[in-house]
Amino acid sequence: MKPALENRFYELYLEYFHKAEELRRWNLQRDIPWNQVTRTPDPAIAQVMQAFMAVELYLPDYTSKILHLIRASRGRAWFQANWGYEESKHSLALEMWLTKSGSRTDDQIREFEEQILGREWNLPYHTPLEMMLYTTLQEFATAVNYRGLRQVAQAADDPAMDRLLALLARDEVGHFQFFKDGVRLYMEEDRDRVVEALNFVIHTFRMPATDIIPGWSEQGDLIGRLGIFDDRIYLRQVVKPVLQALNVSVEELREARRRLKAASNSESPSPPEVPTLG
Ligand SMILES: [Fe+2]
Ligand SMILES: [Fe+2]
Repeated sequence: MKPALENRFYELYLEYFHKAEELRRWNLQRDIPWNQVTRTPDPAIAQVMQAFMAVELYLPDYTSKILHLIRASRGRAWFQANWGYEESKHSLALEMWLTKSGSRTDDQIREFEEQILGREWNLPYHTPLEMMLYTTLQEFATAVNYRGLRQVAQAADDPAMDRLLALLARDEVGHFQFFKDGVRLYMEEDRDRVVEALNFVIHTFRMPATDIIPGWSEQGDLIGRLGIFDDRIYLRQVVKPVLQALNVSVEELREARRRLKAASNSESPSPPEVPTLG
């Protein structure tokens, strides 16, 4: 990475870090009203909480593999370390809700963790730029997932879950903002290349680890049935606002596809268009 760009990433990290210290830190034991947690949890909601915990549990792979990819960038590497701390609280909070609500016993949680961590997550993309584009979409999508569950769970009258999901969603928005600002730095260097990579990542996006979590297809179906997340929500509530935040129009994205198609002489199959953003 060019030294000037590297300096700007470092500045971006410092801005992120100071803001997080000042405005966003929360305490797992004090800031969630655990004494008001429901004792009659809805089994479907408990299932979704456990599924989200599974996604958060691949933290050792997310941190180690991404850190290795960007270790030469102090701004990004220090961010990743801070990010790991924040994400580690997410799985702890979800786990605490599952046990305190009586949805799962400690033994069930241990068994579940063992099963999850028995498989390894691998990077879905192999360049720092693609990974940054992926995490921009993924952090935004994760916030949409937590907000969606919070809405579904509103009727459950569970102030602990409500607060927990609000705190998690707020962290995910903070993560999204760092990555989005990082993408904008890359765009200042070579906008066309970034939009081409963005087109690729949008069309190949999947939530992290969902290809290796045992039984994910049923969990994913349940999340879709509850209206928390599905392909339509991905397009309308993730892709569309992320494109807006990056100031990229659908037309610019199509233009990037045309360039890529021309360059490859249509040798490889092109990804589908994004026709339903409106
Ligand atoms: Fe998280
Ligand atoms: Fe996050």
